[in-house]
Amino acid sequence: MPHSYLINERTFLAIKPDGVQRHLIGEIIRRFEKKGFKLVGMKLMQASEDLLKEHYIALRDCPFYSHLVEYMRSGPIVAMVWQGLDVVKTAYAMIGETNPADSRPGTIQGDFCIEVSKNVIHGSDSIESARREISLWFHTDKLTCWADSTEHWIYE
Ligand code: PPS
Repeated sequence: MPHSYLINERTFLAIKPDGVQRHLIGEIIRRFEKKGFKLVGMKLMQASEDLLKEHYIALRDCPFYSHLVEYMRSGPIVAMVWQGLDVVKTAYAMIGETNPADSRPGTIQGDFCIEVSKNVIHGSDSIESARREISLWFHTDKLTCWADSTEHWIYE
């Protein structure tokens, strides 16, 4: 079994308004759950403009920034925190390339999206972003720490 701090790595994932409207919540959660990652936080919420502007602050000078914030405000989002060994990198790979046209079949973007501006899911792209995004969207002391009884079947 790897050191516990390694399997306690966390990432932030958000099913975007189009993913919710297209009834993809179950399908998307199923992929991370079946992979073996552990869900430690989840809420269905309508995000505020301030929260979204802060979330995408690094993109504030991009031409699509306002459009992206508006899109993310257009309906409820499922905000989640997932935990496991290398979860940031692996979840990001499971999501696929930001532009769905570059994403391989088998990834979420590759299977469910066509346009970058309707790409159903966000995932943290680094451990630093994951820390920042988790603390922005969740009270970290409210995340649920629980013992997964299948862990010894997932990790050596
Ligand atoms: S960039 O340009 O390299 O910063 O883009 P990237 O890091 O790959 O993507 C950051 C988020 O911006 C969204 N994005 C767009 N939205 C609307 N229109 C266009 N053209 C566009 N290009 C990128 C992209 O979906 C990423 O959103 P998240 O929520 O992080 O996946």
